[in-house]
Amino acid sequence: MIHHRDYFELLNNNKLWAAEKLKTDPAYFDELAKPQRPKFLFIGCSDSRVPLTSILESEPGDLFVHRNIANQVNLTDINLLSIIEYAVEILNIEHMIILGHYKCGGVKAAVEGLNEEDIVENWVSQISDIYHYHKKELETITDKGKMYDRISEMNVVAQLKNLLRTPIIQRAFRNKKKLWFHGWIFDIYTGLIKDLPLPLREWKEYDLLPEDYLSEAFM
Ligand code: CO
Repeated sequence: MIHHRDYFELLNNNKLWAAEKLKTDPAYFDELAKPQRPKFLFIGCSDSRVPLTSILESEPGDLFVHRNIANQVNLTDINLLSIIEYAVEILNIEHMIILGHYKCGGVKAAVEGLNEEDIVENWVSQISDIYHYHKKELETITDKGKMYDRISEMNVVAQLKNLLRTPIIQRAFRNKKKLWFHGWIFDIYTGLIKDLPLPLREWKEYDLLPEDYLSEAFM
């Protein structure tokens, strides 16, 4: 945890990190300055407890990232849409990963509400719809924390469906681009990532996925 008095520590850490990289590879930053070629697009939650590069032990250049509260794929979010477009059309990224997590404050806010006028409640209103749509199943979970965690999972799947709905992805499919979609949950209790099962058949019935997607995805 970094407190405000540790602010200068951040800058100091950066100096140490850069020096360490140079020590192991003098050409490290010459390589890093070359055009990026990340293989994965991540759409994740802004939560500070989900530091992508740490939990995946990835290096600079590996991940192309968008984060917002509760990893929403909002079809009017020009920030995210630009990122998806750049990822698919310029970077030719094939793997799209939505990463949610347990104990997500955005999920809790969507169900419980914070204050009526908070903007974040507006932002996560789609999760409130997910909750009401699945209320019967969710109410069988007596532990409230576990119920929210289940909504986090449902939210990841719902946001993947939104991602498939974007004209960018549909155009990519028409152009026969190979794309793979993954729904992940970071289990904050164990540090492990769960690769969620996805309703691929349903998405194909909605014409969101090409007919041959299943076979390719499982190759
Ligand atoms: Co969150």
